[in-house]
Order: sequence, then C-alpha cells, then structure tokens
Amino acid sequence: MGTGTGKGKTILFGEHFVVYGYPALAAGIAAETVAVVTRKEEPGWTLDDQRPEMPGYKKEKAEEQRISIENVLRFCGIDVSKQGIHIEFGGNLVCASGIGASAASCVALARALNDEFGLGFDDEKINEAAYEGEKGYHGTPSGIDNTASTFGGLVWYVRNLEGGPPTFERIKLSRGVDLVIAATGLTASTREVVGDVRRKKESNPEWFKEIVTEYDGLVRSAREALIALDLKKVGELMNRNHELLQELTVSCEELDNLVGIARENGALGAKLTGTGRGGNMIALAESPQAAQDIGEALKRGGAAAVWITSFGL
Ligand code: MEV
Repeated sequence: MGTGTGKGKTILFGEHFVVYGYPALAAGIAAETVAVVTRKEEPGWTLDDQRPEMPGYKKEKAEEQRISIENVLRFCGIDVSKQGIHIEFGGNLVCASGIGASAASCVALARALNDEFGLGFDDEKINEAAYEGEKGYHGTPSGIDNTASTFGGLVWYVRNLEGGPPTFERIKLSRGVDLVIAATGLTASTREVVGDVRRKKESNPEWFKEIVTEYDGLVRSAREALIALDLKKVGELMNRNHELLQELTVSCEELDNLVGIARENGALGAKLTGTGRGGNMIALAESPQAAQDIGEALKRGGAAAVWITSFGL
C-alpha cells in the first residue's frame, strides 16, 4: 500500500493572467487530499473517491478525472494492463472549484504511486507528474495549481511560455496573514472558462493588452505590499484584481455578491479565486477575529461553505 498527500491552494493574485505568462501569487492551505494506492490481481485501475465535495462536483468532473488519472499513471510509467491498482482518495480538502482540488488529487496520486512502486521521485518530479494530471482537467494548465499543491507556502509563479520550467519562488512573510475562503457552491469548468477567455483575447487583442498591462503592475505592487505586510494596500489591490477579472468576464453574480458582503463586513479586500464563474472567493482579514466575523457574515449571506485559514509562514 502506498500513500501520498496534496495540499489545497488559493490564488491570491493572477488566475487567468498566469496562463499568458504573467506572474501570480498563490498560497497553499492547510487542508489536503490523501491518496492510497493498493495493488490488485485484476488488470486496470479502480477508484473509490471519498473526498468531501460541494454537491455535484465529482459527477461534473468524472470524465476529466479519468483522463487525469491515466495521464499520471502514464507519466509514472505504471502499466496496469496485467496487474491493476485500486486508488482511494480521501482527506479533509472539500472539492470545490477554486481551491485546487484537482491539482491536490494529482499530487496525492503521484506521491502514492511513488511510495508504492519505489519510483524515487523528488518533489520536482512529483510536480511534473501532477502537471500531466492537470492536463486532464484542461488542456493548457499554467502549472500554478500543481506547484502550490506540491510545495505549499506562498508562491510567486511565472509560467514559461516556451514550455521550459516555470519560475517559482517561495516567499516567507514575517507573520501569517488571515484569509477567509467562501464557496458559491457552483462548479465551474476550467477548460471552458479558460477557453472562453482565450477566444475573447484572440478576438480583441487590444482590449486584453490593456487589462493585462494593468494587472502586471498590480501583481508586482502586491508582492511588495505583502512582503512589507501592508495589508491595507494588499486588500485594495485584491479589489482591483477582482474588477479586472470582471472585465475578463470570469466573475458571476454569486461571486460578486459574496465579495460585496466580505467588503461590507470588514474585509481589507476580496476577490474571486481560481477559475471563476462559480467556485470560491477569498477575503483578506486584519486579524483572526476579523476573519471569524467576515466568515459569519458570508455564511449568513448564503455562502455554501466557509473556511478560515492563514498563509505566509
Ligand atoms: C485555475 O485554478 C487557475 C487558472 O488560471 C487556470 C490555470 O492557471 O491553469 C484559471
């Protein structure tokens, strides 16, 4: 029996822009997916997916998950045509769009296979295997989700558009920063939303250029403000990042509603996180108590789930 884990993540700045080579900031969160792999006599692979989920998530993603598992097995060189394997997913990461659930399961699976078959993979190689898995969920993943899921912590990530290894840097803050994550309960297709943004970019390059040029300056200021722990500034930049994502048309009424509630209830800033058009939003809080208060307000305002976490240490 082999086991492995992958962390959930939240994108603080840069979803969608990261696909086109602009920097992004992401943070691993404490919740994780656990994979257990056991060998069986019969050929092929079977799956028992016990992860907690937002209603409908697993059904919606089942076919993408199948391709993803095949991709990870292929990358790891595991041939199940004679002797098969049974995979079990569990852990406390609730599957929802925007929290890195797909990446966490790919990382966990790669680590469990590494454990069971003695592949000798280090974290870099686990990350590569998970990236192949992520391709099952959408054709052109930036790699930020699997990287944040493999390494955890606060990550500055720039995709290499030539196909080479990305630039990624781990940033350590001098204290943890409080964050609230809230779910709309809607499952989004990353493949569809990323594809839609790409079509819009191609049909109106000038419009896209203007938005990404502003974003590029914004994320660099956010990095400096985070390191300086100027959270008021970080919050303002999150608010503006959300507006840029609205211009990209990846927000939705449910996300905008939760973002508004968080801001009215003391958040320093709030924005959607991840794919958008459903999934999750995040709110920056100035203290653990403020995070609790914002979380309560989000629950009262109809969030399907709320998680209080922190990042940066
Ligand atoms: C999804 O969590 C983040 C996106 O930027 C897609 C990607 O980076 O591959 C929307």
